[in-house]
Amino acid sequence: MTTRGPQRYSDKVAVVTGAASGIGRAIVEGLVAEGALVVANDVNAGALSELQADQVATVAADVREPGAAQQLVAAARELGGGRIDALFNNAGISRPRPAAEIDDATWSLVMGVNNDAAFHVVTAVGRVMIEQGHGAVLNTASVAGTHGLPGNVPYVVSKHAAVGLTRALAVEWGVHGIRVNALCPGLTATGMNTRLRTGNSGYWEAREAVVPLRRAGTSEEQAAVALFLNSDEASYVSGLIAEVDGGTHALYAGYAANRPE
Ligand SMILES: NC(=O)c1ccc[n+]([C@@H]2O[C@H](COP(=O)([O-])OP(=O)(O)OC[C@H]3O[C@@H](n4cnc5c(N)ncnc54)[C@H](O)[C@@H]3O)[C@@H](O)[C@H]2O)c1
Repeated sequence: MTTRGPQRYSDKVAVVTGAASGIGRAIVEGLVAEGALVVANDVNAGALSELQADQVATVAADVREPGAAQQLVAAARELGGGRIDALFNNAGISRPRPAAEIDDATWSLVMGVNNDAAFHVVTAVGRVMIEQGHGAVLNTASVAGTHGLPGNVPYVVSKHAAVGLTRALAVEWGVHGIRVNALCPGLTATGMNTRLRTGNSGYWEAREAVVPLRRAGTSEEQAAVALFLNSDEASYVSGLIAEVDGGTHALYAGYAANRPE
């Protein structure tokens, strides 16, 4: 017997930023498999073009560009008539380096993508959702949105802001029937960390060793939670800061994951 997966997004319109790689790409693939019409955005036009399909409208743009958020809304209008049921506000970058060596350009770049653009996208899409009286938003934050990480101050600050944006909008937009949640991935093998995984420094293995599940997650594991949170199955979930990290956030960092006998 052939079994079909769930069709939670049948006839729904979804917008995904940072869609060409990693978690965003897995979200698009999951949405398409579940019957959604998808507006997929990425700054990497070449990788984005691989997502071309009848159900997918691609918008190649840097989300920081003025007008990029409106382009997404316009593409949704063309693809699905103007309704937007779900937003996956996922585009994000990391520029790790010691705090004392961070220049203004690096700070502005990380804040520009992870905060300013995320705010412009969520408010542009939010106006549509307020008008239609329903919607679901998922901001991709990080475990760096709830914890400190060394050597990555702009990322940690920007992801704490993504958690704040989530909570603030969840309490402001609930009255409009809009749910707002945050996905906080832990260590996840994606394009963001290819260099760390393929180098010989042992850094990646050391990070995996302190994850209670003893491994990094996959983009598909992040997408599975993302798709649940923006689906009607999660209709009473809002303001949730969902740490999807193999148990890492539950471990006090002053301890190793295993206590010696
Ligand atoms: N991989 C991890 O371990 C991890 C952990 C915590 C949080 N995250 C977050 O998950 C999200 C997705 O990252 P990923 O791990 O899949 O990385 P990724 O690099 O594989 O994918 C990110 C995508 O965003 C796109 N992008 C970057 N800047 C953009 C811009 N200005 N405009 C439009 N698109 C842009 C990139 O081209 C890329 O396709 C990010 O917000 C990231 O901060 C990832």
